[in-house]
Amino acid sequence: MKLRQIRIVCRSARLRCLYLSKLLGFDSIDVENSNCFASSSPGRSLAFFFDENKAISCDSVDEALIELPRVENVLDRAKAYGSTIRIASNPRRHVIDTPVGNFKLSFIRSGTLDAPKSSSSHHDDLEHVDHVTLALTSGSSNFVSKWFEKCLGFRRFWINDKEMDEGYVIRSEKSRGIRLLGMELAGEKTSSSSSSSFDDDNFKIVLAEPLPGSGPNQIDTFLKEHGSPGVQHLAFHTSNIIQCIQRLKGFGMEFIPLPSGYYMLDSKRLEMMDVGLPIESLRDNGILFDVQQRKDDRYPYPPYLLQTFTKPLFEKDTFFLELIQRCQGAQGFGEGNIRALWRALENQYHGGQGN
Ligand SMILES: [Fe+2]
Repeated sequence: MKLRQIRIVCRSARLRCLYLSKLLGFDSIDVENSNCFASSSPGRSLAFFFDENKAISCDSVDEALIELPRVENVLDRAKAYGSTIRIASNPRRHVIDTPVGNFKLSFIRSGTLDAPKSSSSHHDDLEHVDHVTLALTSGSSNFVSKWFEKCLGFRRFWINDKEMDEGYVIRSEKSRGIRLLGMELAGEKTSSSSSSSFDDDNFKIVLAEPLPGSGPNQIDTFLKEHGSPGVQHLAFHTSNIIQCIQRLKGFGMEFIPLPSGYYMLDSKRLEMMDVGLPIESLRDNGILFDVQQRKDDRYPYPPYLLQTFTKPLFEKDTFFLELIQRCQGAQGFGEGNIRALWRALENQYHGGQGN
């Protein structure tokens, strides 16, 4: 199961397509619709479609297309739940509205789209979509998670070892906290009702909502600018995050600076040295590092995550990209990285220093 296409509704489809394709090094695709433009990764594993709508207030990711072997399983479940399933063309796919703003999920049988080309080219370093994060209004994540579970057969996965039943909560003294909750649609290999392991074959979404309290935060900023809940970021997995950042920077992509002092932490530097990472190179490329306690006997070092985040890609502070490299079987999202991202985004949006 893979996320193969993302659709973006925008006020100028041609310009948005040119802009994003240039930043990512994607190739243009011919589309038989004068109001739609498209481009894909060089390996054809992921394509962006840009649909024009002059009436919208801001550009927005409004659909993700999932390729899976047995579409019927998901569609039968959605029908039984009472959802309306629409058939859309180019490509022909089954589209289901979600309760998250304008965001839709669509499904297509494996083999309908062109198979990704296997290539060792460094241009294919955006390998697959690791997860999609949805920004929700305060208090709605339980309802939304139940909808994904009952309508489409998603199940919870644990973002972090310290997570409670209600989700993973991050609090700050200077702004409202957020709650994160992971949901995944299991692929063919796994079928149990909940998951503590991280399976690349599963499609993952992260639900993020602001907690009640005072002060704005990154989710509030998204909701205000976007005008409704929706897709806040898309995370690409890469096997060489440094090379990937260098390549994207060469195309003009800008990344969010890390909180000051991040690389001065002795504990962080020791952890990096323990797994043999080049500290200066990670620092110079603004990469977050998070080592995990769980040990995988297949590897000499503990699992660790490397992550970085772009600046918002549209006119408003809404949608951005994440790059993530999972090393030695790393799972979840790393408590340290979530908190560091939190501080970086607070500084980006509100000019504070976080905590
Ligand atoms: Fe993420």
